[in-house]
Amino acid sequence: MERTLAIIKPDSVKKNIIGKIIDRIEAEGFRIVEMRLVHLKAEEAMNFYAVHREKPFYADLVAFMSSGDSVVLLLERENAIVRWREVMGATDPAKAAPGTLRRLYGFSIERNAVHGSDARDTAAAEIGFFFKS
Ligand code: CMP
Repeated sequence: MERTLAIIKPDSVKKNIIGKIIDRIEAEGFRIVEMRLVHLKAEEAMNFYAVHREKPFYADLVAFMSSGDSVVLLLERENAIVRWREVMGATDPAKAAPGTLRRLYGFSIERNAVHGSDARDTAAAEIGFFFKS
């Protein structure tokens, strides 16, 4: 069993599709270990995405992620990190495979519906960022 962090981003929460995304998470065999609605402060979004701080899109990403509520989820299943990334699809919704969450619900590379950890070390850090247990 492996764990990963998922975020249902503010664009999805504003579109009232939390339920659709959670439905998919469960249908894909993930167990929701913990889940919380959060409104990230700008400083928290800056820290969460600190790895991107030199990127040209960093300021916009921080503004977007702190623009409204998100849902943070601690997910568990076999091969959870890779599997959740497959279910999300490519970062850019226009390049994501049909049927993936970002293709279905993403609007742009920034407003791309969902987030997922990309590796074991980042999953551990990102889970620790939101969940203390
Ligand atoms: P996410 O998986 O949450 O990880 C970092 C985020 O930065 C990514 O999804 C996108 O929302 C955003 N991002 C990545 N590349 C770009 C880009 N070229 N322009 C704007 N935002 C980007």
